[in-house]
Formats: sequence, C-alpha cells, structure tokens
Amino acid sequence: MYARPLFVVVGIFRAFSSEAAPGPDPAAVACSSGGQIPIEFIPVFAVRPPPPQARLGMSTGCGYTLAIMNDAIQPGSETPPQADSPELSVVVPTFNERDNVTVLYRRLAATLTGIAWEVVFVDDNSPDGTWEVVRGLARKDSRVRCIRRIGRRGLSGACIEGILASSGPYAAVIDADLQHDETQLPKMVGLLQSGEAELVVGSRYVEGGSADSFNKQRAGASHLATEVARRALKVEVADPMSGFFMIRRDRFEELAPQLSTQGFKILLDVIATAQGQLRTIEIPYTFGSRQHGESKLDSMVALDFLGLVLAKLTNDVVSLRFLLFAMVGGTGLVVHLTALFIAHEILQMPFAEAQAIGALIAMTSNFILNNFLTYRDQRLKGFAILRGLLLFYVVCGVGLLANVGVAFAVFDQEPIWWLAGAAGALMGVVWNYAMSGLFVWRKR
Ligand code: GDD
Ligand code: MN
Repeated sequence: MYARPLFVVVGIFRAFSSEAAPGPDPAAVACSSGGQIPIEFIPVFAVRPPPPQARLGMSTGCGYTLAIMNDAIQPGSETPPQADSPELSVVVPTFNERDNVTVLYRRLAATLTGIAWEVVFVDDNSPDGTWEVVRGLARKDSRVRCIRRIGRRGLSGACIEGILASSGPYAAVIDADLQHDETQLPKMVGLLQSGEAELVVGSRYVEGGSADSFNKQRAGASHLATEVARRALKVEVADPMSGFFMIRRDRFEELAPQLSTQGFKILLDVIATAQGQLRTIEIPYTFGSRQHGESKLDSMVALDFLGLVLAKLTNDVVSLRFLLFAMVGGTGLVVHLTALFIAHEILQMPFAEAQAIGALIAMTSNFILNNFLTYRDQRLKGFAILRGLLLFYVVCGVGLLANVGVAFAVFDQEPIWWLAGAAGALMGVVWNYAMSGLFVWRKR
C-alpha cells in the first residue's frame, strides 16, 4: 500500500538530484541525457571547426540527434556568417571586481588583436556594482556583454551560463582579478584551431608554470586536492583545479547538461565528465597576485570539492546538495537527542513535550545550517528567512508522517526494526529534500 507513494517520492528525488547539482542551469540547454560522443566521431584534423550542420549531426545523447538540419532551422544561405561574428568568446565570472574589470577589458583588447572576440562578464549582482562598470564598457564596445544574475551565486554556474550565452566556436574562462595570464589566449586559440586540442588548460603545475603568489597553506591545499582528483577520478591533467582554460564550444555543449552549477571546480568537472574523451593540452602560466579586492574562495570550497569528487565517483547518483542536506539531517539527529536529554532528563519535562521541543530545535538548526551550507548559493535573507523557516517546519512535519508510514509498512512485511527504521529515515530525508527544493529554497 505504501509502495506507490515511495515510487512517487523516489521519482521526485531523481528529478531533483539531476536538477539540483549536475543538471542543467535554468539558462542552459533543454536536453538532459547528455551521452558521450564515441571517439571515432571526433574530428581529429579539423583545421577550422566543422560547419554547424556537421557539428549538430554529431551531437548525440540529447535524444534528438539531427543528421541533417531541416529548412525551418537552417540559417539559410542568404545569411552568410558576419565578418565580425566572434571566433572566441571569453567568459569572466565576477563578484565584487569593480576595480579589475576595466583593466582586464583593456588587456584583452590589447592581446587579442587579429582574433574576432567577445567578452561576457557574468556578475552575481555584486554589491560593489561590478555590473554597472561592465554595462558602461558594453555601451562603448559591443564586444562586451554583461549577464547580471540576481538571487544566485557560484563560480561554476556563472561560467557555464556565460559559455552557453555566447556563440563563438571557442570559449575561454578567465578570472577577472588579473591573476590569470590573458596573453596566453592567442596561443590557446591556435591550439584549438589547429585541431591539436579540444581543451587547453592554463596550468600552474607544468614546467614553466608557477603559483608563487600562493601562501603555504593554500599551496598545500591545492596540491592535496589535485592529488585526490587525479587518483579518485583518474584525471591525468596536472592542474585540474585551474580556473583558466579554453574549450571547443561543441564539446562543451555536449557536456554541459551533466556539469554541476554549484561550487568552484568547473574545469575538474568538465574533465571528469568527459572521461578521458577530451583531447587536452596544458600550457604553463604564472598565477599572479591579486591587485584589488579579495578572493572568494573560503573553507566551503573544500566541501564543494569533496562533493564534486563523490558525485563523479557515483556517476552523479549522489548530488552535492543532497549529500549536504543528508549530512545536515545527521547533525539534526544529534541536536534532537541532546535537546531531548536536557529537557527530559535534566529539566524533568514529560517525554512528549520534551520530544516535541527536541524536534522543533532540530528542525530549526537544520534550517539554519541548510540555509548557510546546502543552499548558500540561494541563501534566504531578511523576511524570507522567517517564511522559509515556517515552510520548512511544514515540509518536515509531513516528512515525518511519510517516514513513520514507510517504516510501518516495511515493518509489516519484514519485522526487522533497523531495516524499517532506515527505510523510514531515507523516505523522510528524500521527501524533505525534494519538498524543500520546491517550496523553501525555490530557484528563481
Ligand atoms: N559570478 C560569480 N559568482 N563570480 C565569482 C563567484 C561567484 O559566486 N565567486 C568568485 N567569482 C569570480 C571572482 O570575481 C573572480 O573573477 C573569479 O571568480 C575567481 O575567484 P577568486 O575569489 O579570485 O578565486 P581564487 O583566485 O582564490 O581562485 C582562482 O584561481 C584558482 C587557481 O587557478 C579560481 O579560478 C579557482 O577556481 C582556481 O582554482
Ligand atoms: Mn583570484
């Protein structure tokens, strides 16, 4: 009798886990399965990128493989490619980089002579008004564009959105803070144009590269993360943590539906998702020091990183968000038992009341932690916190009913207490996760 609701909830969870982390960004593409392109279909000696028809013809895994473009979607012979349509789209994620964007723009203009280029700044509504500065640049130079995202945060998501919002056959990602070396871009384009590579990585850890500006702690963490990624995900690139790379658009578009929009490690995600099917060349560069503003990488980055490794190891079954949500649920249990102990054993309250208080405190602490950790890219602020908290109570209340219901049903069939308990708990967490994403931390 409970089997049907369980299926429904598992179905909802699946839809969510593919939406929440590795799924497509709202602005992204509509296809969701995103299979790998067999290696034999990858053009090896493409001196110029293949024409759009050929590229679409290769595109697999979206369920709508197009062998030939029909008339309705063909651009038509009367519209030849414009001479100034960009060959290279440079994507720059920004958060509080007001004092850096103009300098970067000037440097790009100086170094990219001879290449048709455009730059897309993706700004997460920076409080310092970075987007205003970019708008000013865009008004003077149509090669500059600005995406101002409201209610969202995240480096990876910003890069993905920027690449998908542009159309040059080659897309580069570069930080706004001038720590990456933009003078490498022409060389990177050359390697993609010649067909030698499909992905070019600006690398600190190949001969000739360096990250001297890192302090000891940061250097240690960077090396450790690189080692873990290389061993756990069998990534062979020396610097998969680099935030500086260039990729062929067609290859990126294939991988995009499977990339996580959370976190910092977009390159690692790209490489791990491609599973060795991306011809990659690393070129050395020196990671400079920041002139203005400060780094946004904090201790949460470690968590993001572990989440990404886990997601890739489990073939995206476990999303980072779900993992964090479940971990927070685990801390909630400890909070609950502690509160119950204090209320019942120390304050001598009747069990039922003590239990209710314990549950309320645990739900509240879960809500706060989820708002800070699990959904920090969509963090509720101000009055929305109160509304969110009340909704969270309702969601968890129903989740508890589902939990007990499933546990009873399982126990009825198979009177094994721990199996029934675990099934109930799993039902509860899946329900709470799915419903919280729908009602409490809604994507804008
Ligand atoms: N849109 C958006 N949203 N941009 C962001 C966000 C965000 O939430 N967080 C950071 N950025 C932007 C910054 O404004 C900057 O342009 C770039 O992303 C890199 O952020 P930093 O805060 O400067 O990171 P970092 O210098 O400590 O680390 C960088 O270099 C490492 C080594 O190459 C990043 O690129 C790392 O990913 C990279 O591992
Ligand atoms: Mn930086």
